[in-house]
Amino acid sequence: NYIKIFAPATVANVSCGFDSMGFAVDTIGDEMTFTKTVKKGVKITQITGANGLSSGPTKNVAGVVALAMLKQHPVDFGIEITMHKGYSPGSGLGSSAASSGGAAFGVNELLGKPFSTLELTKFAMLGEEAACGTPIADNVAAAIFGGFVLIRSYEPLDIVKLPVPDELQLVAIHPQIEVKTKDAREVLPENVPLKDAITQWANVGGLVSGLHTNDYQLIANSLTDVIVEPARKHLIPHFDLVKNEAIKAGALGAGISGSGPTIFALCKGKKSATNVYKAIQNAYSDKNIDFNLFTSKI
Ligand code: HSE
Repeated sequence: NYIKIFAPATVANVSCGFDSMGFAVDTIGDEMTFTKTVKKGVKITQITGANGLSSGPTKNVAGVVALAMLKQHPVDFGIEITMHKGYSPGSGLGSSAASSGGAAFGVNELLGKPFSTLELTKFAMLGEEAACGTPIADNVAAAIFGGFVLIRSYEPLDIVKLPVPDELQLVAIHPQIEVKTKDAREVLPENVPLKDAITQWANVGGLVSGLHTNDYQLIANSLTDVIVEPARKHLIPHFDLVKNEAIKAGALGAGISGSGPTIFALCKGKKSATNVYKAIQNAYSDKNIDFNLFTSKI
């Protein structure tokens, strides 16, 4: 009658895989509870950890997802949701996806698990659509499936779970400014030169292969984005500095996490992650922008 879950933060795109790759973060995320109620419908009774989120079930992404699930699978009870946001919306770490994906998972448990993981991802995408206007799957699929995922196809939806090499570590810096995904999508190019498209899809292939074969050099070579990062990086204060310092300190690669402003770096091993952490900290410490810096296993 009651379930408490951890809904992880997620890094989408992972440089070359715009809207088609993502991974879940171990150490940062939201806590959500789901309780059966006698009164039918969906009620969000508590939101802590973030300001300005509506608790109206049709306005909050968790409510949007829960209502859609109840519509497709009617039951004779209602669901009460609480959420504690572990990080702020507009961070580029899939905050809305944690709420949407968490809601899909939690509600499914109370309903007796009628839906498959793929179906849960589709419900969670409705939350993403409500949040930013586009039903993007990269963050929600990573939150629901865990680990590294590839959205091989949107129609029909096909999610491929990828292996995560043992030593892969994340270092991420979240400058405390907000970038709305909707705004970050408005700066995207409408057309892509064939040459850039070739570079991009070749790198996606390289990254997928590197993850499968534990080939850290191949992963490093493939963490390149010639399409989205150049169009968006001006939205993120000191992006080039952080990226360069991270790579100089030994990161395999670095890029924009989702639609930013968080910048992620992938590293091989904890020692390298510590070096990269320190280099980023140094680079940002005199910049008069508050930031949250963290490492995580993937
Ligand atoms: N792939 C999305 C973007 C992630 O970069 O706009 C945000 O959900």
